[in-house]
Amino acid sequence: MYSLEQTQLLTQQSQQFLQSKEAVKVNEIEALRNVLRFHEYRYYVLDNPLITDTEYDTLYKKLEKFEAENPSLVTPDSPTQRVGQNLTNNFATVPHLVPMLSLENSYNADDLVDWDRKNKEAENLSHVEYCVEPKFDGASISLLYENDLLVRALTRGDGIEGEDITTNIKQIRSIPLMARFSAYNIQQIEIRGEVLMSKKSFKEFNDKQAEQGLQILANPRNAASGSLRMKSPKAVAERGLEAFLYHIAYVVYNNDEVPELMRTHSGNLELLWLCGFRSPQKEKKVYQSIEEVIAHVNDYEQLRDTLPYEIDGMVIKVNSLALQEQLGMTSHHPRWAMAYKFKARQATSILRSVEFQVGRTGTITPVAKIDAVFIGGVTVSSVSLFNEDIIREKDLRIGDTVLVERAGDVIPYIVKPLEELRKGNEEPIIFPKHCPVCDSALHKPEGESAWRCINPNCEAQVVERMIHFVSKDAMDIRSFGEANVRKFYQLKLLKDIPAIYQLDFDEIAKLEGFGKKSIDNLKAAIEASKQQSLNRLIFALGIRYIGETTAKTLANKISNLWELKNFSIEELMNLEDVGPKVAASVYDFFQSEESIELLKKLEEAGLNFNNQKSSNANADGSLQGLTFLFTGTLSQLKRSDAEAMVEAKGGKILSGVSSKLNYLVAGEEAGSKLEKAKKLNTVKIISEEEFLKIVNE
Ligand code: IVH
Repeated sequence: MYSLEQTQLLTQQSQQFLQSKEAVKVNEIEALRNVLRFHEYRYYVLDNPLITDTEYDTLYKKLEKFEAENPSLVTPDSPTQRVGQNLTNNFATVPHLVPMLSLENSYNADDLVDWDRKNKEAENLSHVEYCVEPKFDGASISLLYENDLLVRALTRGDGIEGEDITTNIKQIRSIPLMARFSAYNIQQIEIRGEVLMSKKSFKEFNDKQAEQGLQILANPRNAASGSLRMKSPKAVAERGLEAFLYHIAYVVYNNDEVPELMRTHSGNLELLWLCGFRSPQKEKKVYQSIEEVIAHVNDYEQLRDTLPYEIDGMVIKVNSLALQEQLGMTSHHPRWAMAYKFKARQATSILRSVEFQVGRTGTITPVAKIDAVFIGGVTVSSVSLFNEDIIREKDLRIGDTVLVERAGDVIPYIVKPLEELRKGNEEPIIFPKHCPVCDSALHKPEGESAWRCINPNCEAQVVERMIHFVSKDAMDIRSFGEANVRKFYQLKLLKDIPAIYQLDFDEIAKLEGFGKKSIDNLKAAIEASKQQSLNRLIFALGIRYIGETTAKTLANKISNLWELKNFSIEELMNLEDVGPKVAASVYDFFQSEESIELLKKLEEAGLNFNNQKSSNANADGSLQGLTFLFTGTLSQLKRSDAEAMVEAKGGKILSGVSSKLNYLVAGEEAGSKLEKAKKLNTVKIISEEEFLKIVNE
């Protein structure tokens, strides 16, 4: 989409805009818009930003300011025009230009072989070329572009008519408001795809909702479709939706020259990609036989859990558009496409009992204990019920047969009880009035659905706070983990967070399973955590309502942690995404004597309280935008040194193999990560020597 020269030019222009103290001039405005579009593309489509979020915001604000002062110069495709007014009426219903059909489903290799045979017989062919791509599990949408501008977006509706959700769709930053279809001789085009909520956004969203005692969304699919029909575009923007576009439904050309990319489905995906859309261009595969297709879909099913979003199968499409037309469609589905559904991730089980767990901020979470069932490769025996309201809404009872669903790494949940199987001896679930750990009375604030234990010294909370502190997303003290926190706490070797930095290793050495090597690892990990970034520390403190994003927002505003002590509630509320609840929580934390005591001890222990510029900013940047992961034993380098080398050059270390990974450096005896990476064709697998060449280049 952007050539290397364009990328360099736009990066240079970004820096000029960022450094300039002067107001933007009229003749610069289109350049600034292009710079913003470019960074949106890098961030939302490529998932590979070149500037920080704060820099993006600065550029965006410059444009906003200019447009506020020059309202007549605002254009409909300006990056500021994503923001929409709240909707007062319902969504208007609009007929689709071409009906939005469904797909035929297949469940095994035989179904696919059958379908391939029919395709060949219908047109008397010896073989058919297929394009295979993931079947995204979200909400389908249709987008209409005219003269390069996004003019309308519809939901699927009943397939004949959809609802006009243009304003909400404009909140999704991976959907360009303007796309250069004219470069392909296209005047009008209707494209289709799927809006998704990534597993990560889904989890973040639900964690936040649960923490605030608000409604939990069942799964990413429901979350995506629900989000598209919200009345507040701003709320849509906050949900971190993404979109994959995979089908061109209708085209009008400017003249009768048809571009080459319009002859095959794989060409269409490339065209969409070149026009700046996230299409499955990287995920697609073209095969000459159904046997290869079958092997690929089976392999891909194994990758399902490593993807950042949910897929529920694969879609196989006849690649030639001419042949697609010949095969035609039924009233329900096209004959040229077939969905291959992955194994179901639902099962039934019996709800035996409910336990009540106390979280680090005192929230009481009911957890259902069910007879162990095997769902999508994992045994499930505990399922969170989130809060009391959900138990009541679903009318769950002890002894019920329940339908359980597990979607990827999304935590399993109970869809519903199977009421028709009730015998009459099922019993109601009784929610406790007192904390199951410290016995103090539980509280439930107005308007919230979660009960809380408000005793800060409640043992359960103390332990959970420590578990949170050492966890991967917080201080990332790798060899610590939940099990050790619990063990050390029980043995009175650990009483609170500062004690992590004063562990008695001689005592620990006496415990079973703690050899010299594991103690050395633990010591090194604790030591290394002292240098963690400020945003991680803020997150690790476990302040109520402060997730990773808000922790970053706070860290970005300060150069030393103590500065937060001087922020008023109003000042906190001026920060992005900080509402009254969050502001009050941060304010209370920094005014509480106990917190100040905690911070003092952590500072004394030598933890980093300063906001150091990220190493990327000082780096030579030659690995900027690239991601690495090390696996197996390296022969020349220590893994931590190798990782530091990557970071020093602006690259990123990932924690697992996923489609975001560029390089897997495989040492000796590399195991499952290597296997996974081999299946993901997008990952480059390199040796330690090759790695050294790359970093030293
Ligand atoms: S093609 C005319 N490709 O699955 C054919 N659909 O179960 C248009 N879906 O309604 C559909 N991923 O919403 C196609 N790669 C993909 C897809 C996909 C997900 C959805 C789509 C469709 C539904 C049918």
